[in-house]
Amino acid sequence: MALNIQAVRGMNDILPEATPRWARFEAAAREVFAQYGYREIRMPVVEPTALFVRGVGEHTDIVEKEMYTFVDALNGESLSLRPEGTAGCVRAVLEHNLLYPGPQRLWYSGPMFRHERPQKGRYRQFHQFGLEAFGYPGPDIDAEQIILSARLWRALSIPMPALHINSLGSGAERAQHREELIRYLEAHREFLDEDARRRLYTNPLRVLDSKNPAMQNLIASAPKLLDHLGEASRAHFDGLRRHLDRAGVAYEVNPRLVRGLDYYNFTVFEWVSDRLGSQGTICGGGRYDGLVEIFGGKPAPGCGFGIGVERVILLLEESEPAVASAPDAYLVFAGEAAGECAPRLAEQLRDAGWRIVQHCGGGGFKAQMKKADASGATFALLVGDDEAQAGTITVKPLRGGEQETLAPDALLRRYQPKH
Ligand code: HAM
Repeated sequence: MALNIQAVRGMNDILPEATPRWARFEAAAREVFAQYGYREIRMPVVEPTALFVRGVGEHTDIVEKEMYTFVDALNGESLSLRPEGTAGCVRAVLEHNLLYPGPQRLWYSGPMFRHERPQKGRYRQFHQFGLEAFGYPGPDIDAEQIILSARLWRALSIPMPALHINSLGSGAERAQHREELIRYLEAHREFLDEDARRRLYTNPLRVLDSKNPAMQNLIASAPKLLDHLGEASRAHFDGLRRHLDRAGVAYEVNPRLVRGLDYYNFTVFEWVSDRLGSQGTICGGGRYDGLVEIFGGKPAPGCGFGIGVERVILLLEESEPAVASAPDAYLVFAGEAAGECAPRLAEQLRDAGWRIVQHCGGGGFKAQMKKADASGATFALLVGDDEAQAGTITVKPLRGGEQETLAPDALLRRYQPKH
């Protein structure tokens, strides 16, 4: 019996029709990141589970229920597929002493894995382009990253998403707010849903993130962290706002923005598109000044973000027609002599940068020309017995225009590859 094996639910193939759009996003992101001096780093997809438990946080959804965790059968070590890139980036930076010479601006990309319920814009394998800066304590770097991301949205010509910003304050301020929040939620226990009750003592801040309509009144009057900021946190947040105002980047202060990972302090932000339904956040990030120290490094502030590539691709699909990846030419040839010289001619043209699909599988000129048409190529290059003998090629423009027969050198002078 034939096996019918399909891709794992929530893990998608990205087909040839879609990859040119991905490549366009990737090229734009690389270019914009480089424009601001970020350098690429590549980390493994698998890391010790403890990295995420300590880094992302024991009581986060990601660690509690979304990680792909397994035991390495060879040594019994618990490993996990990375659910995000920041923790691995911090590990790599420390392992290779990258902060020794001074601050660092880094970026990375690749697949991340979270065992979430799949839906449009939410997958179990998804891709991020992320960046992290280490060693910069001021709000100038927070602003830089936000301004950089706005430049990327413009470069991609996607409708400008809304920018939400908030401050989570310092650890001490959060602890104080947490106490107050727990007291408030305890006093209104009868209005809490099951999820909120579960989180009441482990991650009460996340209760404020609940989408449950029945809890919105309760959430609206809950004590706000933004009202508990001390002088330094307030100054940092005001500084960020000034930088954004000066750069002309519009934002909305959203006191309910808490993010789903535990490492944040001070600035957090999200870019949210209104075109993607409930999975509208295309980019999220913020500052994590304590994370390097947690992993045994000399304290160094950090700030970064992650872009959900699939979500940006959905926006690109909406705003631009399919991008073709057609060759410059399709090489049609028949006859023994042509069979000998046509592949050589194709190599010669490729040396000059042409993209040429060479016909394979034989057949007559007519059948081959049909293939040439269907390939979307700009030209068909024909080599028959006559051309083979004379050392020429017949160039037939497939989107209108006269055909002509030329020597390869003349062809290279006369026609430029279009791609
Ligand atoms: P995050 O908000 O968990 O942050 O993920 C960043 C982005 O990845 C989200 O805004 C979303 O676009 C995308 N994303 C997350 N989960 C999924 C999913 N299941 N399917 C599709 N897309 C998804 C982080 O991961 C942090 N490491 C960002 C960061 C870097 N903060 C500081 N530095």
